[in-house]
Amino acid sequence: MKKLQDRVALVTGGADGIGAAACAAMAGAGASVVVTDIDLGRAQALADSLGNNASAAVMDVREEDAWRTVLGQVMEKYGRLDILVNNAGGAGAGNIEEISFDDFRQSIRLNLESVFIGSKLAIELMKGRGGNIINVSSIHGIRAAAHAASYTAAKSGVRYLSKSIALHCAQNGYGIRCNSIHPGYILTTQMQAWVDRQDDPEAMMAGLVAQHPIGFLGLPEDIGAGILFLASDDSRFMTGTELVMDGGFTLI
Ligand SMILES: NC(=O)c1ccc[n+]([C@@H]2O[C@H](COP(=O)([O-])OP(=O)(O)OC[C@H]3O[C@@H](n4cnc5c(N)ncnc54)[C@H](O)[C@@H]3O)[C@@H](O)[C@H]2O)c1
Repeated sequence: MKKLQDRVALVTGGADGIGAAACAAMAGAGASVVVTDIDLGRAQALADSLGNNASAAVMDVREEDAWRTVLGQVMEKYGRLDILVNNAGGAGAGNIEEISFDDFRQSIRLNLESVFIGSKLAIELMKGRGGNIINVSSIHGIRAAAHAASYTAAKSGVRYLSKSIALHCAQNGYGIRCNSIHPGYILTTQMQAWVDRQDDPEAMMAGLVAQHPIGFLGLPEDIGAGILFLASDDSRFMTGTELVMDGGFTLI
């Protein structure tokens, strides 16, 4: 039997990058995967490529109503939700002096409030039968980045919100685990495009690699494998913890 046979998983921001790799890894392990994204076209294309047990839905993680609609559709179609991967998010640039209050709030809304809404609603569906929540944080949820005040605040918030959720669910006997995952710099299509736009892409890439003692950047599939591990019973004794996959970034 495959590791996620008969499980239903929902991934946010699933059309690209780490989210897409998580969708592929979990579908390969037998899960029915709901690929959600603000870009329905790309989410649908990925779901089609994953086969019959994948479907797509449009969802902006910042909108509580959108969450309620999509989770309603999932319950109608599958009658259950076993795994939620809160992946959608994005880096907000600017140190504390540069960033405006409005931009700070937007970043917290995208990266932290979305995880709060999704987790809260998923627990309602999971409690009683059990479930698994995986929150994609960042190395900057562990080691602060001066140039990204809002992102550091949001991702460290995700890290500790995950622990609070884990403790609450464990103490109430819900059978719901919750963990955070902390990727180093991952060579997604978006990341490569950003590097290519710099004045000196080679120097930029070398600078990024130099921050990772292992000597290379991770790939989306590396984090997809970590998410699959957290989603499966291989990690059944883990809750409220942090899976750091960063090539040693946080060691230096
Ligand atoms: N790439 C990295 O180096 C890296 C490192 C650490 C953490 N992360 C985190 O991993 C997660 C995924 O990052 P990625 O680099 O794979 O991203 P990506 O830009 O490659 O893909 C993000 C996906 O999310 C979707 N999206 C954007 N805003 C959305 C919204 N409001 N609602 C729903 N979907 C939305 C996009 O359409 C896109 O398909 C993010 O939370 C990011 O902060 C990324």
